[in-house]
Amino acid sequence: MRSLQRDFHRQVAIDGPAASGKSSVARELARRLGFIYVNSGAIYRAITWYLLQKGIHAEDSDRIAHALESAAITCCLQDSESRILIDNVDPADHLRDDRVNESVARVSRLPLVRQIVGQKLHEYARSHDLVVEGRDIGSVVFRETPYKFYVDASPEVRLRRRAAQGERDEITLRDHADFSRPVSPLVIAEDAHVIDTSRLTIEGVVNKIIARLKQMGLQI
Ligand code: CDP
Repeated sequence: MRSLQRDFHRQVAIDGPAASGKSSVARELARRLGFIYVNSGAIYRAITWYLLQKGIHAEDSDRIAHALESAAITCCLQDSESRILIDNVDPADHLRDDRVNESVARVSRLPLVRQIVGQKLHEYARSHDLVVEGRDIGSVVFRETPYKFYVDASPEVRLRRRAAQGERDEITLRDHADFSRPVSPLVIAEDAHVIDTSRLTIEGVVNKIIARLKQMGLQI
């Protein structure tokens, strides 16, 4: 008899710059597909928050390595979404604090930090179908997946969207850091499908992605 349990899982990668609409699109897409929604940026943010709490500066790679060696970083699921605990504390309410916005791109540059987050993402992929949003998901973390999307919007639209969220977030600086870092920079993966979300609703973007996935033969 054929087992209902598949021995492989699918990953849909949604990459793009800050405030391009990734999170809303990825969450809604995951809901429509019945996949788990994983926000990789939230893991980078949680690690950044943890280090800031300990008074460790984003440039102090030795102290960061030491702190992360002994930190218990647990990635779990809640309501079909990724959730992060560090040393049993849930930093969810602090992930978008000004100081996290300000430091996260510098912490994310460190190879050790990228390695930790990459491992966590692969752990999710062992047991679930995923929609994962981030910067390097289609280009590095799940390079093998055929299902890759790069969502973008004009700089003006992105600045407006972030301001409407009431956050102080220097997205131009963060974008520059993300595009120019030597390890896993933000790039458009060669085989990614690019969508400009400037004039589209979330539903409009999700519909486009689902149409493309069906065309590619994703069984949903
Ligand atoms: O929501 P927003 O687009 O502003 O950012 P985010 O997805 O929460 O990511 C915050 C920061 O984490 C980014 O600016 C990157 O520096 C870093 N990041 C990364 O380096 N790689 C990823 N896969 C996801 C986020």
